[in-house]
Amino acid sequence: MTNDDPAADAAAVMDLLAGGVIAQVLHALVALRVPEHLAQGAATAEEVARQAGSHPQATYRLLRAAASLGLLGYQGEQRFALTGPGRLLCDGMPGSLRSLVLVQTGHAHWQSLARFPDAVRQGVSQASAALGADVFEYFARPENAAEAALFSRSMADISGLVTQGAVAALDTTGVSTVVDVGGAEGQFVLALLAADPRLRGQVLDLPHVAPAAEREAAGRGMADRFSALGGDFFTEVPPADLYLLKTVLHDWDDDQCRTILRNCRSAAHEGTRALVVEMVVGEIGKPDFATISDMSMLTMTHGMERDLGEFDALFAATGWRRTKTYPVGAGYQGLELVAA
Ligand SMILES: C[S@@+](CC[C@H](N)C(=O)[O-])C[C@H]1O[C@@H](n2cnc3c(N)ncnc32)[C@H](O)[C@@H]1O
Repeated sequence: MTNDDPAADAAAVMDLLAGGVIAQVLHALVALRVPEHLAQGAATAEEVARQAGSHPQATYRLLRAAASLGLLGYQGEQRFALTGPGRLLCDGMPGSLRSLVLVQTGHAHWQSLARFPDAVRQGVSQASAALGADVFEYFARPENAAEAALFSRSMADISGLVTQGAVAALDTTGVSTVVDVGGAEGQFVLALLAADPRLRGQVLDLPHVAPAAEREAAGRGMADRFSALGGDFFTEVPPADLYLLKTVLHDWDDDQCRTILRNCRSAAHEGTRALVVEMVVGEIGKPDFATISDMSMLTMTHGMERDLGEFDALFAATGWRRTKTYPVGAGYQGLELVAA
């Protein structure tokens, strides 16, 4: 280990350490709806504070920090404007990351992450210790409905980043029925249905989540080709020609993944395919967001991000064979499987 420039080394560590504060800068921006207040054009910090009902000088300092992070541009005389990344924090715009920011800086994630060293000591999720329940049980509790809805919304929003790529890459020849396993609001399967009007689709998700998928399908005028099933993928999965498993396996340990994949395989027929969409861990030592996401998985869930070899072992053990692998955008890979 060389130490040619200790000041640069210290600066590098301090930059990394700032990650927690930076996450809360994002949190404050979206909680105060700063991006919406700037959506029509640049404004002064005082004008933003008036609309947000926040403290003027503290708001100015927040906007200055956001400008230093590239989320806002500075036009002089305390006037700030949205940049491209800042625009992604606006509510309701395509590709919005607002819900994701609120979820990842919200109660469930933040309380669990505060116990991160214990996750490493014990090798288990800290959700139970922090929240009194596994994360999906926590979201299923009526008193946490708002945070649960935000979680589903955030999944739907980030889905938009990859569904386009996945839908474009996937050949649906020979497919009539598609089941989106753990499909939340059904963004993925509904995008596939929009691209191929012959298809019928279904979401299987927990009973408190499935109704949102029904509403989403109705809102898109696809209710006649779509249904949502409240159920448990550890118990049973409905039959299909194609299964979608997008960012589901990373929530679970190997045994649990084998149960989900086996349940799909049991309901599959010869020629049934599956598309798994996940981050795939790459070469160790290279910058790799999958390894950072893996730290969230370790703290929040029983799952993990996996490399290709680890995925293939799961597929081989459950009667699936990987036939194709392709990037689908935003750092996610599509792993196409066929019932072996
Ligand atoms: C990380 S989210 C992924 C959602 C969606 N596939 C996407 O990519 O946007 C995992 C989903 O699995 C669902 N889920 C968790 N446990 C489940 C179970 N036992 N049976 C069915 N769905 C479950 C959750 O409610 C959640 O919608």
